[in-house]
Amino acid sequence: MNNHVKQSQQDIDGKNAAFWDTLCGSLLAQELGISDDSEQSLKKFDDWYFEFYPYLFTHIPFAEMKEKRVLEVGLGYGTVAQKIAEAGADYKGLDIAAGPVDMVNLRLGRGQLKGEAVQGSILQSPFEDEFFDWVVTIGCLHHTGDLAAAINQVHRLLKPGGEAMIMVYNACSYRQFQTSPIKTLKRWLAKPDGIEDIGAKSGDRHSRAAYDTNPDGDAAPQTEFVTLGELAVMCRKFSACSIVKENIGQDGMFRLVSRDHALRYGKLLGLDLYCRLKK
Ligand SMILES: C[S@@+](CC[C@H](N)C(=O)[O-])C[C@H]1O[C@@H](n2cnc3c(N)ncnc32)[C@H](O)[C@@H]1O
Repeated sequence: MNNHVKQSQQDIDGKNAAFWDTLCGSLLAQELGISDDSEQSLKKFDDWYFEFYPYLFTHIPFAEMKEKRVLEVGLGYGTVAQKIAEAGADYKGLDIAAGPVDMVNLRLGRGQLKGEAVQGSILQSPFEDEFFDWVVTIGCLHHTGDLAAAINQVHRLLKPGGEAMIMVYNACSYRQFQTSPIKTLKRWLAKPDGIEDIGAKSGDRHSRAAYDTNPDGDAAPQTEFVTLGELAVMCRKFSACSIVKENIGQDGMFRLVSRDHALRYGKLLGLDLYCRLKK
């Protein structure tokens, strides 16, 4: 489906709830030979996850979350959820799909960890203003259909002085330059204002599939890509904002390079923008 055809938010939410019910990471779990949700299988998945994204420990300061009210938005396989709860946080998880919510509640219950996950959208979340000390949301807000509104919700939910870590996809990564060089160059050079238009910049099926596919090969229903400048504009309500690029896939010019080596180029050309915010 071409995303330039305006879809209603209800339509997007329904598609997201169905698509992401199959846990994000399921394809990988299959490749790792994981076929159940036993403690041993989840540990295998989590070990892979943190080894594959080693910089997560730099961007998510788990130890600082002890005894803090932490909201995670977009839960997937629940790896980050478990780490936050194990750090001693008062954890809340929010996801639009039932599968990730069930997975996180399974993990919390099994580990007798404090907190719970609930089903719902960050665009209409059930939490009151200024409730959380921390919000962590990795690879989620760009799927909601309204990234700018989702970031405003993160701002609303944080206490004054509260902090957030948001990861979203970079519109000017090496992958975008490879697939659409002229379009990406124009985007890179464009002034990052006019953010009302950013919602119209959702990726087409091909670019969405390059980032997120389910085991049936379908692409995520909705993915917005932003430049670092656009993201900074969307975060302008916060008192502090610092954005770092990370992550290189094994595609295009990096397909013959080891991941360890390729990751060194992440800060320059990375696929993902890690945005640390303070209200
Ligand atoms: C790509 S996965 C990322 C999961 C996890 N953070 C990770 O790093 O593996 C995106 C997640 O965001 C969730 N999501 C999508 N739209 C959402 C919304 N409007 N509100 C809350 N969660 C949403 C999906 O259900 C899915 O679990």
